[in-house]
Amino acid sequence: MGSYSEEPEFKTLSIKKLHPTFAAEVEGVNFQNLSDEQFQEIFAAMAKYGVCMFRSTGLSDEAHIAFSKRIGDLDTMRRYMVDGRKPRYGHYELFDAGNIDDQGGVLDPNSPRAHYGKGNALFHVDSSFNPRRASFSLLRAVHIPPPGNGGNTDFADSRTAWDELDPEFQKELLEKDYTVNHSIAQSRKLGSPEFFKDLDPTNGGVMARHRLIQTHEPSGRRNIYIAAHSHSIEGLPKEESDALIKKLLDHVTQKKYTTSVEWKNPSDMIIWDNRCTLHRANGGTFEGKYKRDLRRTTVHDDSSTAWGLNEKQDTDDWVVNHSATKAAAQTQVK
Ligand code: OGA
Ligand code: MN
Repeated sequence: MGSYSEEPEFKTLSIKKLHPTFAAEVEGVNFQNLSDEQFQEIFAAMAKYGVCMFRSTGLSDEAHIAFSKRIGDLDTMRRYMVDGRKPRYGHYELFDAGNIDDQGGVLDPNSPRAHYGKGNALFHVDSSFNPRRASFSLLRAVHIPPPGNGGNTDFADSRTAWDELDPEFQKELLEKDYTVNHSIAQSRKLGSPEFFKDLDPTNGGVMARHRLIQTHEPSGRRNIYIAAHSHSIEGLPKEESDALIKKLLDHVTQKKYTTSVEWKNPSDMIIWDNRCTLHRANGGTFEGKYKRDLRRTTVHDDSSTAWGLNEKQDTDDWVVNHSATKAAAQTQVK
């Protein structure tokens, strides 16, 4: 990972590229006193790079949430907090992406809860399985493993992956204008097939439906909206659908379209745009050994395709209406 060039493209930020086509480390942000001008520049950097790493932000849980709310409406854990469960870190807005167990120790990689997280190791976008998808995710480190033990987060550039598809294939995809069904059960099964062998993504009735090829409105660039949650393509026989999903996921996640971002300090924060990038947890020798405490806020998309082809409904009703999602989501969600 290195810097390819320094571009004086912003007044208050400086940009260190992490990859030739996307992803940047952004320096010069004062999270303690963020001006409107700087906030707008962060937005512009997000539109261009899709993934921005901010080192040592100094953000607390509360400040992380407050900053995220400045971007848009936040998704919450409320709908998963059934049977008296409480959010791990006291805020419904914080999704737990870490490996801390209920006693504050390191989660056993063979525990049921760990199995729920294994889908995170596959390239995905957050919340494509929800009727209203997510725009930005803001993931902040609270505690990271000692250096050399892995735990990076990897990203893939689905805009450049679209740009470089064969023009004939692009034409075909635009003409067909496919709709993809997404379910969290799909990535759960792929992430831990044995543990989830009885989980059926089709068992909840409708899945979340989003178009495969979309325009990323902040940049005006097309992208391939595909993820490990992608279960099926509407109108195609299963074999063709499976083959096309695999072909596109393989294409988007080729090494040349990806970059691996290292967490270095507590309070490092990565913001990514789920509408033009994919990501995955990279794993490593820290698992079962060292704490990796990462907490995420998730912003509801407000672009014109936020709801895809889904009926608009109260977010708290989503799980209730989708039994496969409910079964998959019992412990933690991503
Ligand atoms: C997430 C996620 C990856 C990681 O928080 O949505 O996928 O590296 N995290 O923990
Ligand atoms: Mn994720």
